[in-house]
Amino acid sequence: MDNIKVRQLNLDFSQSFERYWFKQSIFKTHLFNSFTLGVPDIEKYLIRNAKKRIKFIGNPQLKQQAQAFILQEGQHSVQHIKFWHNLKSLGYKFDTYLNWLQMIFFNILERRMSTNLNLAISVGIEHLTTLMAEFVLEVDLFAEAEPQLKQLFEWHAVEELEHKTVLFDVLQDKTSNYLLRLVGMFIAHILILFFLNLGLAILLYQDKKLLDRKVWQELIEFWITKDKFLYKVLFNAIDALKKDFHPSQKEHLWLIQKVAV
Ligand SMILES: [Fe+2]
Ligand SMILES: [Fe+2]
Repeated sequence: MDNIKVRQLNLDFSQSFERYWFKQSIFKTHLFNSFTLGVPDIEKYLIRNAKKRIKFIGNPQLKQQAQAFILQEGQHSVQHIKFWHNLKSLGYKFDTYLNWLQMIFFNILERRMSTNLNLAISVGIEHLTTLMAEFVLEVDLFAEAEPQLKQLFEWHAVEELEHKTVLFDVLQDKTSNYLLRLVGMFIAHILILFFLNLGLAILLYQDKKLLDRKVWQELIEFWITKDKFLYKVLFNAIDALKKDFHPSQKEHLWLIQKVAV
């Protein structure tokens, strides 16, 4: 994809929002709050992995895409981290969560594993974020959410779709090892789903809503019965197991055009 636009978004999160900004849904509010907590460090991890390979990329077009990828992901982190201020002012504590995240991604994966494996894990993370982006835009998930947060997540989703092929191509430029791709995909899914749900649990716990009946009803609806996101994740992962898989095989341009950002 040649059309990777780096947009300079400057969202203002200085005002306070309702605690449950997602259509009054406690579950969805904290699911996406949890996503917001993970974005800055995980995207820092993706950027660092891309930077390690960029100087070895011979194809000028791919090199330029990798540079645009780095700029887009950098912007995502900047905007998401602004919202931490709102979460902190509402009294949420998440330093321990961030420490665990950093320990896994930086101290264990980045420091102890090979560059190729880290890049393969990054490809797996991008595969999952592409699915999340597709889901958010397809069903207009944030239609009734707080407008600033709607803008944040939809802008992020559009850019995830725009750069969905980049890390895959960067990895393939170095190695087309199928087993490596599978291992990276597997580790990425385990880690992202684990940290997304851990963040959710930590935030719900602080609201004393961990055992709330409505929250659990929504959680089951989201993952299993209504939105069926767990099945979407599984089928999406199976798709990536095909030997001739490439992220460009699924058409997303219509979704990018649907949202004017
Ligand atoms: Fe991103
Ligand atoms: Fe991304």
